Amino acid sequence: MNITNEIISSYIDGLYYAQNDKLKDLREYAEAKGVPIILKDTENLLAAVLKLKKPAKILEIGTAIGYSSSFFVDCCGCKVTTIEADMESYESAVNNIREMGFEDNIWVLQGKAEDVLKEIDDVFDIVFIDASKSHYREFWDLSLPMCHDESLIICDNVLMKGMTASDEFDTRGRYKTSIRRMREFIAYINELDYADTVILPIGDGVSISIISKED
Ligand SMILES: C[S@@+](CC[C@H](N)C(=O)[O-])C[C@H]1O[C@@H](n2cnc3c(N)ncnc32)[C@H](O)[C@@H]1O
Repeated sequence: MNITNEIISSYIDGLYYAQNDKLKDLREYAEAKGVPIILKDTENLLAAVLKLKKPAKILEIGTAIGYSSSFFVDCCGCKVTTIEADMESYESAVNNIREMGFEDNIWVLQGKAEDVLKEIDDVFDIVFIDASKSHYREFWDLSLPMCHDESLIICDNVLMKGMTASDEFDTRGRYKTSIRRMREFIAYINELDYADTVILPIGDGVSISIISKED
């Protein structure tokens, strides 16, 4: 199930254009192979956020084949540190990023983010969480010390094809644990004193949290 009206989504998707031919080819490859990369409307939202925020450094959790990290660099010339658990995806990402000519901007780390995040000693303007949905709380908690005042933490897929909002979309009852964990995560970030969060029904649901580290 799409969380947005299909007629409206296809109209908006019809307005989409790729930032360059290499990104266009990589999106087509991902879609043909069923690699889950950011949806077109999510990309448009992120482009607007990046152009406003002008981040120098982005931390990404969930590289896949390097599409979104390449898009970030192409969009604003930032540096990206990105983490991927799966070895095959990691190797594809390294190759694709080299093909794009972004190897000096993107640092791809292989391993589970739960472990790798503990080894990173840096500060980021934006954290983009786009990996295993049941671990978002852990990714958030491990990334937070690497945020500064006014960093953004952006999480993709938070509406989980509507299932976060209603069990009726989990027709076979297969995702009960992920749904419960995502609901707990959303409730958690929504209540935090140090973060202002908005949840947008774009793509598969995107949360944007503005971090405040000063009283
Ligand atoms: C939705 S895809 C990322 C898509 C990518 N951000 C893009 O838009 O081009 C999620 C990726 O996260 C990886 N992943 C899942 N759990 C992870 C974890 N605990 N640590 C690191 N990577 C993980 C998966 O192997 C998968 O490649």
